[in-house]
Amino acid sequence: MIIAANLKTNFTRSKTQAYITEIENFLIKKANTQKVLVFPVASSLIKHTGKLTIGAQNAHPAFNGAFTGEIAQEQLDEFEIKTILIGHSERRHIFGETQEEIVKKFNYYKDLLYKIVYCVGEPLDKREAGHDKMMSYISKQYEGIDTSYKKLIIAYEPVWAIGTGLTPTLKDIEFIHKELKEKSLAPLLYGGSIKVTNAKEVLELKNVDGILVGSAALYAKHFCTMIQFAQDLEK
Ligand code: PGA
Repeated sequence: MIIAANLKTNFTRSKTQAYITEIENFLIKKANTQKVLVFPVASSLIKHTGKLTIGAQNAHPAFNGAFTGEIAQEQLDEFEIKTILIGHSERRHIFGETQEEIVKKFNYYKDLLYKIVYCVGEPLDKREAGHDKMMSYISKQYEGIDTSYKKLIIAYEPVWAIGTGLTPTLKDIEFIHKELKEKSLAPLLYGGSIKVTNAKEVLELKNVDGILVGSAALYAKHFCTMIQFAQDLEK
């Protein structure tokens, strides 16, 4: 399975290094074979060769240039980063990234054969508007995305569940994952308030190929426990 940590805007470079070392040591010690991805803040990116993979939370679709405040391919190349998170709801909603801009990023990094974790998910008002309206909202987030791209991983993250402690019911997660699998056969992660206390039951669900974890992943021990759940569940 794929177990990913989105560290968002947390940790300094040295704390990130200590975090990565702790996770890496855990994976080695336990001979853990899960695919583990860690997305640190841009200023804490490091070159890492080991069991876990470091990815970028965002990057501009260009090699370099006049894009104040951004990082781009050249800065990722420095650390041999080949994995990127695109379309996270905080990028969409706090920073106003449009689907068009997101598609540009997707295509740029797809052409470079990056592994892309692509996030989709509905805000609360869309969920409350009923199933069809919710699905049509999510469908728009698939527009322009090559859903058969070999290095694509999709993360379904209901916006209202991110950082709130709220989650859909297990039945709801299973139901929506089944529908999303009809749009793409790419591995499908669930994200939104995953913690040690609910990770196992979510990982057990059909059509859940892993989890994307924010707040709870900041505790290396908790994140390792979740990675171990995935290992134990794998046949
Ligand atoms: P959360 O964040 O686990 O804190 O809800 C998940 C995410 O934003 O990817």
